[in-house]
Amino acid sequence: MTMTNGYFQSDKEEKIDILNLPSLEARAKEIIPKGGFGYITEGAEDEWTLKENTESFNHVQIVPRILTSVENPSTETEIFGTKISMPIIMAPAAAQGLAHARGELATAEGMAAAGTIMSQSTYGTTTIAETAAAGQGAPQFFQLYMSKDWSVNEAWLDEAVKAGVKAIIMTVDSMLGGYREADIINNFQFPLPMGNLAKLAEGSEGKGISEIYAAAAQVILPEDIKRVADYTGLPVIVKGVQDPDDAETAMQAGASGIWVSNHGGRQLNGGPASFDTLAAIAERVNKRVPIIFDSGVRRGSHVFKALASGADLVALARPVIYGLALGGAQGAQAVVEHLNKELKIDMQLAGTQTIEDVKKAKLIRR
Ligand code: LAC
Repeated sequence: MTMTNGYFQSDKEEKIDILNLPSLEARAKEIIPKGGFGYITEGAEDEWTLKENTESFNHVQIVPRILTSVENPSTETEIFGTKISMPIIMAPAAAQGLAHARGELATAEGMAAAGTIMSQSTYGTTTIAETAAAGQGAPQFFQLYMSKDWSVNEAWLDEAVKAGVKAIIMTVDSMLGGYREADIINNFQFPLPMGNLAKLAEGSEGKGISEIYAAAAQVILPEDIKRVADYTGLPVIVKGVQDPDDAETAMQAGASGIWVSNHGGRQLNGGPASFDTLAAIAERVNKRVPIIFDSGVRRGSHVFKALASGADLVALARPVIYGLALGGAQGAQAVVEHLNKELKIDMQLAGTQTIEDVKKAKLIRR
């Protein structure tokens, strides 16, 4: 273990055995200190939406298909012209130093080794340039929590463009945090600096997530999407979409991607499961731009169902962070590779050879 500012960080770097993603949470709880674990794991209020996110995959069923020529299915796919090994990517997640001494650096290495995309959070423990360097040229996205101060946004975006990120994710569902009780019970304040905020006068150490959100832009409008797209010349993916009309608004404002998510149940509790909103949003988007889906994905069959409901990629955060705590870069890598292994089994049993076939697969709604 490494101790930083009185906080114990795992420094494990080893291969881990994974039975399934849900079982990682209890294993990670043994390693991550209580305050950090609470922050990573929690949802809003009584966590109904958080639980429903995973439950909702049971609302549809995959049809087994027989007498097909499918053998050793391929999970390769692409987004914005970037080829990746699987339709599973790392979602932007804050403060990964809470789980491991090397934080995002190890996650970036793990995603690079798995052949998939690392999404960096504005609130990462390490800076944009540091995390990008750890990826050694593997594709990354940068997620922007817009600052009130446009010159700060420019500095972050300049750093991201220079680092060669393939897209900017604008998270627009979090002008304040949902009501998260674990942080209150644990009196949780970030014990470690956030690299990108360290440049600002206010910093982040000793603050809770509510104070950090309060320092960010409180209103984000369609024109901000256009402004970020024009400034960077990169595709902008709008994250936090749960409504078809909002997807339309985002696309009209210049979004090149739609990220369907309810922030892993950390924001508006009482909202629908993210999966239950996906099909209607995909219908409205009608393949004009790619769709990334997150919130509650824990099984290969969940990935399959999301793709068959209109997603092009799915993203994960908590399970990868648990893998990071348990095994560093190799742990993070093992998590996405395990999920992809389950997906490949499901693909063959459902008669789908490619990810494009999965997207066309039939689902049954009970
Ligand atoms: C969260 C942020 C920072 O705590 O994404 O949910």
